[in-house]
Amino acid sequence: MSFSIERYKEESRKVDVTGVAWEEVTAHPLSKGDLFCLHYMMDIENHVPLYLSHLLVTRACMDPILTAFLACWNYEELWHGENLGRLLNLYGIEFDTQDRIANVRANLGLQNSVSLLSTMAGSWLLKDFSAVYLTIGAINELSTLTGYGALIRKSGHPVLKDLLSRIIKDERRHYAFYYNSAKEWLSGNRRAQKVDRWMLDRVWVPVGQGVKTQEEVDALALYLFNDERGEEELLDLDAKIGRLPGLSGIKLMSRALYAARERVKRNPRWAWRLIENEEWAIKPPKKSPVGGLTGRRGAAEQEEALSS
Ligand SMILES: [Fe+2]
Ligand SMILES: [Fe+2]
Repeated sequence: MSFSIERYKEESRKVDVTGVAWEEVTAHPLSKGDLFCLHYMMDIENHVPLYLSHLLVTRACMDPILTAFLACWNYEELWHGENLGRLLNLYGIEFDTQDRIANVRANLGLQNSVSLLSTMAGSWLLKDFSAVYLTIGAINELSTLTGYGALIRKSGHPVLKDLLSRIIKDERRHYAFYYNSAKEWLSGNRRAQKVDRWMLDRVWVPVGQGVKTQEEVDALALYLFNDERGEEELLDLDAKIGRLPGLSGIKLMSRALYAARERVKRNPRWAWRLIENEEWAIKPPKKSPVGGLTGRRGAAEQEEALSS
């Protein structure tokens, strides 16, 4: 698996959706589980700029190759979120994308600032911060593309399959960058390997956790991976990450699946109730109304302002 930053810069573009049969989106049903996953995935794709804001204050960004990658990566991820939203809207689920994104962000509240500051401070204290960040990047991209593959399989929806297959190609390039960069950092660097492993074993969480609750993360994991094939895919994912120097035998995604199963054992309605009750709407934040954070008004407020 090779990666050239020069080639990536030249070739980076928004995912090409020419020829996707959008008009056929409603011709095939999507289950509640499919819809739950699509909302989760869209929200996390749309969260990338905030994730990026955490990275740009770290020591990792002293590396111009990394910042060149991030500049293109952020743009590509934007179009993943846009297209997932488009598919959901065409399927008949009504929401305003900008409102939804703003609500997700506003709901993070203080937690977002605390996380940003601690990542920044941690990165300057920890010489090998980049090793950890790059490894987490590799896991996130690999679990994203594995999740998309699983959703293609679960949904059996041809238009979704076409769209996700195109997005997966981008995710593979992202994965190649992170994996190769992590490998470079970790090779022959025992201290970095130790720090990386220690952090992954203790602070790593599946992609999306933090923006999404533990129960939402579990719902996604159980819907997509709680069968023989799904479990195998997660073990395979862990094995791939375990090929990085110092990470042999590490269990991350499979461990997350087993932990989700344990929580369901204790409470059989856990996670599944979110899917069953179609809990994918984002509630407006209690504090910091979106208008106050963005300066934008909702349709009703706009009308009111214009008529006064
Ligand atoms: Fe993406
Ligand atoms: Fe990606």
